[in-house]
Amino acid sequence: MVGKRPSVFVTSELPGKAVDGRPVLDPLREIADCRVWNRAEMPQPEALRQELSGCEGLLCLLTDRVDRAVIDASAALTTISSCSVGVDHIDVTAATERGIAVGHTPGVLTDATADLAFGLLLAAARRIPEADRFVRDHRWTPERRWEPRMLLGADLSGATLGIVGLGPIGQAMARRAHGFGMRVVGWTRSQRPVDGVEAVSFPRLLEISDFVSVHVALVDATRNLLDAAALATMKPGAIVVNTSRGGIVDEDALARALASGALGAAGVDVFDEEPLPEASPLREAQNIVLAPHIGSATYRTRESMARLAVDNLLAGLAGRPLPQCVNPEVRRRA
Ligand code: GLV
Repeated sequence: MVGKRPSVFVTSELPGKAVDGRPVLDPLREIADCRVWNRAEMPQPEALRQELSGCEGLLCLLTDRVDRAVIDASAALTTISSCSVGVDHIDVTAATERGIAVGHTPGVLTDATADLAFGLLLAAARRIPEADRFVRDHRWTPERRWEPRMLLGADLSGATLGIVGLGPIGQAMARRAHGFGMRVVGWTRSQRPVDGVEAVSFPRLLEISDFVSVHVALVDATRNLLDAAALATMKPGAIVVNTSRGGIVDEDALARALASGALGAAGVDVFDEEPLPEASPLREAQNIVLAPHIGSATYRTRESMARLAVDNLLAGLAGRPLPQCVNPEVRRRA
């Protein structure tokens, strides 16, 4: 019906303000009937299907599984906007088949995520969390004021960083590494050359890198890319950092390599199953720095992501091209 306000379901309140200073979801509320999920627990698939019934728009998080069943059950849906760069939680093929545009938030989280990756690299190399525990646990005693061999770690300057995936975040990681005097090599599936990064094959990268940082998206071709066999070809004592997605590094194999000393340390922000299960062997390793998927968790970045997610949805609902669309081949009808 002409003039009918669209309905949208938003799976979480979002932080920050719109450019005009109003709460970030207000521009959406202005043009649409907006239902915002406000319970502490995330909407489960059945709830998601129910809430989406009759909605033209969905604004979701990376924790919302928008699979084919959800998409098939949402006959009115025209636009899915995820407040994330990764879209592995959305069945984009099913959405595209249905002519549903899918938006995401690349670009605005590049620096925050690269900062976290580099922070994990530094923390793992210099054993910062272990050092913190050492002091808090009263193990830094007058008898052990300063010992030449206490908490020794790895040097960054002169070391080789291998970057797996040279998209914007991988490139931002390379810039940080250059500032620390590292040699940077990289491998990317597209084999696109990147300034300041020496292109190498994936096996060569694993063979020569003192640090390996993962920045590829999770797709079929990258699932288990760093499996037990790949990890076994890495330099003895090398350090692995993953801020991309769980499922790319085999967690059991990583835990074994850390426990045996084959790998020196790791810094990991993303896991196959989140939150990290209590029984995960990664929790046992002392030489791993763990974080709860906080790559983009800065005030400014989360606000920018929320604004972009809202802009994507507003564009989709108005029949305009999404500012950041995963499947631009979907032609939106006005
Ligand atoms: C975070 O992991 C994102 O995809 O935005």
